[in-house]
Amino acid sequence: MNDAPILLLGANGQVGGEALPLLRSLGHLVSLTRAELDLTDPPAIRAAVRDLRPRWIVNAAAYTAVDKADSDSESAFAINGDAPRILGEEAHRIGAPVIHFSTDYVFSGDGNRPWTEDDPTGPLGVYGASKLAGEQGLAGSGATHFILRTSWVYGAHGENFLRRILKLALEREELKIVDDQYGAPTWSRTLASLAVACILRGEKDALMGGDRPAEAVQSISGIYHACSAGFTTWFGFASEFVRMAQMALPGRVFARLTPIPSSAFPTAAKRPVNSRMNCEKLAHTFGFDMPVWQDSLSEVMHEVLAGNNI
Ligand SMILES: NC(=O)c1ccc[n+]([C@@H]2O[C@H](COP(=O)([O-])OP(=O)(O)OC[C@H]3O[C@@H](n4cnc5c(N)ncnc54)[C@H](OP(=O)(O)O)[C@@H]3O)[C@@H](O)[C@H]2O)c1
Repeated sequence: MNDAPILLLGANGQVGGEALPLLRSLGHLVSLTRAELDLTDPPAIRAAVRDLRPRWIVNAAAYTAVDKADSDSESAFAINGDAPRILGEEAHRIGAPVIHFSTDYVFSGDGNRPWTEDDPTGPLGVYGASKLAGEQGLAGSGATHFILRTSWVYGAHGENFLRRILKLALEREELKIVDDQYGAPTWSRTLASLAVACILRGEKDALMGGDRPAEAVQSISGIYHACSAGFTTWFGFASEFVRMAQMALPGRVFARLTPIPSSAFPTAAKRPVNSRMNCEKLAHTFGFDMPVWQDSLSEVMHEVLAGNNI
């Protein structure tokens, strides 16, 4: 790769934190956290990209507080909607591809068929609507882009369902967990590896075609579904990791898990019932097979337990 840097945004988050060491291993990396570049500040975004002139942009930053977004739509739309469009406009000026993450929450959750990239969107709340606006803004910016739509992100670090439930399971006797939303828990590190795969594909094609990566991979620019293989419910997911924790820590007492319907756990923002996503386009284009969710979970639990990271 030439000396122009990869620009990473959101390195303090789950996906960004996993992407940081992987992208660093590719060469020159510049990582800007919120303190260094606030994505609610459009002139600052433009200035950063113009100054750095990155070869690639990886945007792992987002407003991810799903329930809070409903009462804070201005921030959610600024970070999730406007910022990706502005990044795209600036990336287009300098010929840098943008790797961006989006969500199953762009869908309504109707039916029980896994969603494909061509299915109509229909977000149920502000978070999903703001992420959809970001997808559309980036896609319309003219920049070569890979929008990786994923679901139920978790890992050994950061704020996520697995870490929250494991901690509560050690404090309480019973935990009631929603058992009628279907999706695939997806490891943050898998998504970081996928960003690397996009870059390597772009660099390889550029090398073979004599173009810059943005031109070399323009024909495969677009949206890709990228979640673990298989599916479960939040209750199924929690049951599996609490079972693994119990086996690894026989001396500890964990809460009893009870399945409940979503109606018994009201939240500010409505969640899609069916978050299953079809990832065939990703496998076909990149040869990247997403792991089965239970396999990733074993690896994450190994890290969580080895690091006493509950
Ligand atoms: N989490 C999920 O379950 C899930 C599911 C589907 C899709 N996704 C998508 O996957 C991507 C990565 O999610 P994640 O779980 O890794 O998110 P995360 O852990 O919540 O991290 C988000 C990052 O964005 C940064 N950020 C927030 N507001 C910012 C601002 N105004 N300026 C600059 N940076 C800002 C945060 O900075 P601070 O650390 O300073 O707050 C944080 O580092 C996102 O696009 C998300 O929409 C996530």
